[in-house]
Amino acid sequence: MNGRMMKRIDRLTTQHSLPESEYVELIEGRDDESARLLAERASVLRRAIYGDTVFTRGLIEISSICRNDCLYCGIRRGNAHADRYRLSREDILACAAEGYALGFRTFVLQGGEDPFFTDDVLCGIVSALKARHPDCAVTLSMGERSRDSYRALRHAGADRYLLRHETADPGHYARLHPKEMSFEHRMRCLQDLRELGYQVGCGFMVGSPFQTPQTLAKDLKFIEVFQPDMCGIGPFIPHHDTPFRDEPAGTLEETLFLLSVIRLIHPPVLLPATTALGTIDPQGREKGILAGANVVMPNLSPMEVRSKYALYDNKICTDDESAQCRQCLDRRMRGIGCRLVVDRGDIRHP
Ligand code: 5AD
Ligand code: FES
Repeated sequence: MNGRMMKRIDRLTTQHSLPESEYVELIEGRDDESARLLAERASVLRRAIYGDTVFTRGLIEISSICRNDCLYCGIRRGNAHADRYRLSREDILACAAEGYALGFRTFVLQGGEDPFFTDDVLCGIVSALKARHPDCAVTLSMGERSRDSYRALRHAGADRYLLRHETADPGHYARLHPKEMSFEHRMRCLQDLRELGYQVGCGFMVGSPFQTPQTLAKDLKFIEVFQPDMCGIGPFIPHHDTPFRDEPAGTLEETLFLLSVIRLIHPPVLLPATTALGTIDPQGREKGILAGANVVMPNLSPMEVRSKYALYDNKICTDDESAQCRQCLDRRMRGIGCRLVVDRGDIRHP
């Protein structure tokens, strides 16, 4: 690590900001030593704000049916081999009840853009969840919808919304998505969600095809300016039935490095160590927490559908019961001096 890298890392630690060109240089200058220093600084910040606690979210994958055709995703419309399913309202409420008993106080309903989940249907599920578990947060991760739809869902009780921006570079966005999808609309959705009073999560894949240090620098600048409440990042992992089947996966090292940088840019951010990170390395989630992440999102979906929600190949936890997943993560977190808590896990502004 040269002196310039050191200075950038110091500046990021104190100012939580760098010019975009210096984000490029930071990414290009990554080595083991700079990664270690960033992880140390990020861990100090995480501990200062969140102590030894790691927040959990119970992930319920409610539908693998999707009208979109994102080139990277295993459940894209164009994948005729994908096994499709949709959970019923009763299935979803049962998963949440099981999750509640296990100590989850946030439920994330995630799914493809499935036309079955109209505002009426989804609002009914959200309000039933909130009525049964008033001490829980409900997070939606159901893709792009209209502002009116986001408003209705918010009024029904949804607290948070995850919508990864995928890339903050419009040209890069266009290479990852079919032409009917637009970068501008994606950004519009994120703004709408914020204005409607949601806690908002953005994010991107590390090592997605055509990603460069320049596009990543734009992602970092976007996070710096947008100040999301949550930020989901994980490695790109190819899915065998997509156009990107032969592309290389994102790396553990680059993902960890970016987790640390994001913690320094926006210290209170809720930052998950994702399932994708656990998929590319058996200790990926532990390493993610040690690099600055503070959230894990174990799977609460019914066993029968787990393997069908395949965004990428070799996804972990598809054979484990919800209770096992929580216990497994609890053990893993205690192994690194952290602990899972029974808590909604709201952002803590220092
Ligand atoms: N590898 C890793 N992450 C993926 N996602 C979709 N496909 C893949 C893949 N092949 C991520 C996207 C999406 C989120 C739900 O999952 O970033 O926003
Ligand atoms: Fe799911 Fe370990 S977290 S089995």
